[in-house]
Amino acid sequence: MSDFIEKIRNECESSFYVFDIGELKRRISYLRESLPPYAELCYAVKANPFISEEIENDVERFEICSPGEADICKAIGIDSKKMVISGIYKTPSFIEALVSDESFKGIFTIESVNQYELLLGLSEKYGRELEVLPRLTNDSQFGMDEADVETIISRRAQNRLNVVGIQYFSGTQKTSLKKYRRELEYLSGFLGRLREEYSFEARELEYGTGFPVSYFAGDKLDEPALLSGFSDILEELPQKPRIILELGRSIAASCGKYYTHIVDIKKNKGQNYALTDGGMHHIVYFGQYMAMKQPFVSVLGKDGSVSDVQWTVCGSLCSMNDIIVKQLALPEINVGDILCFENAGAYCMTEGISLLLSRDLPAVYLVRENGELYRLRKPFETKQLNMPEYEKI
Ligand SMILES: Cc1ncc(COP(=O)(O)O)c(C=O)c1O
Repeated sequence: MSDFIEKIRNECESSFYVFDIGELKRRISYLRESLPPYAELCYAVKANPFISEEIENDVERFEICSPGEADICKAIGIDSKKMVISGIYKTPSFIEALVSDESFKGIFTIESVNQYELLLGLSEKYGRELEVLPRLTNDSQFGMDEADVETIISRRAQNRLNVVGIQYFSGTQKTSLKKYRRELEYLSGFLGRLREEYSFEARELEYGTGFPVSYFAGDKLDEPALLSGFSDILEELPQKPRIILELGRSIAASCGKYYTHIVDIKKNKGQNYALTDGGMHHIVYFGQYMAMKQPFVSVLGKDGSVSDVQWTVCGSLCSMNDIIVKQLALPEINVGDILCFENAGAYCMTEGISLLLSRDLPAVYLVRENGELYRLRKPFETKQLNMPEYEKI
């Protein structure tokens, strides 16, 4: 067992996450090597805000979708030139605070006509040129129809909104090269039309690829083939503006592990249960279905050889839904053992139902490439959030 895990065990008696920055950087290098050199990377902060500071110099841009994410990025010193302020709801006071701040140099996406008007009004009010990226919809609540994007572009000479290109994101865990081709050809065609009809030369295309991550045993993802096929599609596009790939899980998933203790063991009606001090409020895998899929799990300090006993691994919420995985083959286990869940670096720790039962959220640790270990968050008491505080008003 590595030294840093031993250190954490000595100070933390409950579940925890560890983010490995060496792995994170290797992952970014791998993506860069697998993609054409002109493809730039934009890290979607929502995937895991904790690691943003560590990769400020490794990606070209950070996609920020809420005032909270913006505050985090500001606090950790991300250069505002690298920020793209995105998100389906742009809180007006938050946007105004950014526009009124002369030192803020980021780009704003535009997701609706109302957002356009908000930015238009603020750019006039503060006499500021703002760089904007209208978002084209993928037939969802996000972005705008082509006609609305065209209207924004046709009016660009009459205002202070400097349209630098377009943004597009159609969903996550996309594995079909056909779909990538269809989307990129559509986007390229749309940019071509903007050139012809509005003399608009897009400087950039910010494209959320939705590159997939393999979370479960049996997933059939041939990532090298996918990235190479994707690169070929990019190469074949007739004209390319600067292309920025918005990525979350593909960058962050592999650097994270989630550790949870086995706190009880029992056999009910023939079924073996391992109860943990974690649960579905701590670990959520995209695509998990009724706990049927098997994430990559090991028992700390034990080799991979499994016994023929199968386990249903449950969490500590009083909910029958709180099952992390069913029919899991494990080495011999005992109360006190620690389960380690892989690929937990993106979304896994933020998409859970954190407030049910007022249990604590796990501590967060980070290990740098030189072996230095940092605690980024102590176990967080959610009981504060469920505790009434009477204020007569
Ligand atoms: C606009 C946008 N870009 C990028 C991402 C990141 O997606 P992924 O984590 O699948 O790379 C998301 C995720 O929701 C998104 O909404």
